[in-house]
Amino acid sequence: MKIIGFESSCDETAVSVLEADADGKLHILSNAVASQVETHRLYGGVVPEIAGRAHIEAISALTREALSCASTAPSELAAVAVTSHPGLIGALLVALGFAKSFAAQNDLPLVSVDHIKGHVAASYLMDTPPKPPFVALVVSGGHTSLYFVEDHTTFRRIGESRDDAIGEAFDKVGRIVGLPYPAGAAFDRLAKDGFVRATGKEEGYFAAFPKCETYKNPYYKFPSAALADGSLDFSFSGMKTAAINLLHRFEQTGTPLEGDLFAAAYTYAAVTSVLKKVDAALSRYEGASLVVAGGVAANSHLRGALSALCAKKKREIFLPPLSLCGDNGAMIAAQGYYEFLAGNVADSTLNACAADDIP
Ligand code: KG4
Ligand code: ZN
Repeated sequence: MKIIGFESSCDETAVSVLEADADGKLHILSNAVASQVETHRLYGGVVPEIAGRAHIEAISALTREALSCASTAPSELAAVAVTSHPGLIGALLVALGFAKSFAAQNDLPLVSVDHIKGHVAASYLMDTPPKPPFVALVVSGGHTSLYFVEDHTTFRRIGESRDDAIGEAFDKVGRIVGLPYPAGAAFDRLAKDGFVRATGKEEGYFAAFPKCETYKNPYYKFPSAALADGSLDFSFSGMKTAAINLLHRFEQTGTPLEGDLFAAAYTYAAVTSVLKKVDAALSRYEGASLVVAGGVAANSHLRGALSALCAKKKREIFLPPLSLCGDNGAMIAAQGYYEFLAGNVADSTLNACAADDIP
């Protein structure tokens, strides 16, 4: 069975064709992505109207490319999957309108996909995919949440950020230290330089960091993003504001900023906060494995620390390849496949929604 997936919830237009073999294993036949990052970089963040306009320019050619790379005619498809929520309304409407027309024109069923569930479904495209139930950590530019995934289509939210997402906490602070938008990947590399310099170690620097002088420097004490209220919730706005205030103080007093050490200390605070809550979630769900998803799942320090935690707790961890961590159409087609199998077919009134509706 072949399925096409459309995605335009933020600043990536993406179309992919997947094939499910007789055993239900998913294979990517094509995965075309048109990124608008360069356009939005000028403004230091995503400008919703520009995003919508860029999606509409890209989506027809991208669809032709995805079908042609997959050597697939529309008549060979079994269903059309599309992100309907959450995201920027003007952006979501482009792929949604296009997918509805594509489905109607080719007489195919239309399947609505939740973008967050799509991120988790990126893990089903790994050589050895996870099988629900499992705990999922979704870390992206717009979300930081923990879910208990009962089956492929039934998610229960067990923790979330009450304010900023972790990606935003990296991007905003990264921008102030002069990194171009989105700063996540460059901040990751800068932090690595800082960890290596602070600990003098090329390997194992993350675990060694709390013993070094930089960690003990009072300047670099950031409030924990893991709320100390017994919940599995996060709050990244406190650590982000503390970091921004520190950077402004350095600027005002002419104190030279050691950007690599600052990035290491900030990353250490963000990652250890996430670790605390993941640790608690895994303890709550005895024996459950961990699936990590979303753009920030590309962060090397988070990947390393979560792998070490899962090894210690003897839990399996599923970390999708970096190419599938950011927004893409394959993850939407993958989730669409399971929604379709569960009989979740949308009608022609399907509309976009900015908010997430996972209970
Ligand atoms: O999932 P995604 O592509 O879009 C949303 O749904 O938000 O995530 C984008 C986020 C951005 O904040 C970007 O800076 C971040 O993923 N990101 C990273 C890394 N690579 C991308 N953050 C930290 N470390 C990285 N290596
Ligand atoms: Zn996303």
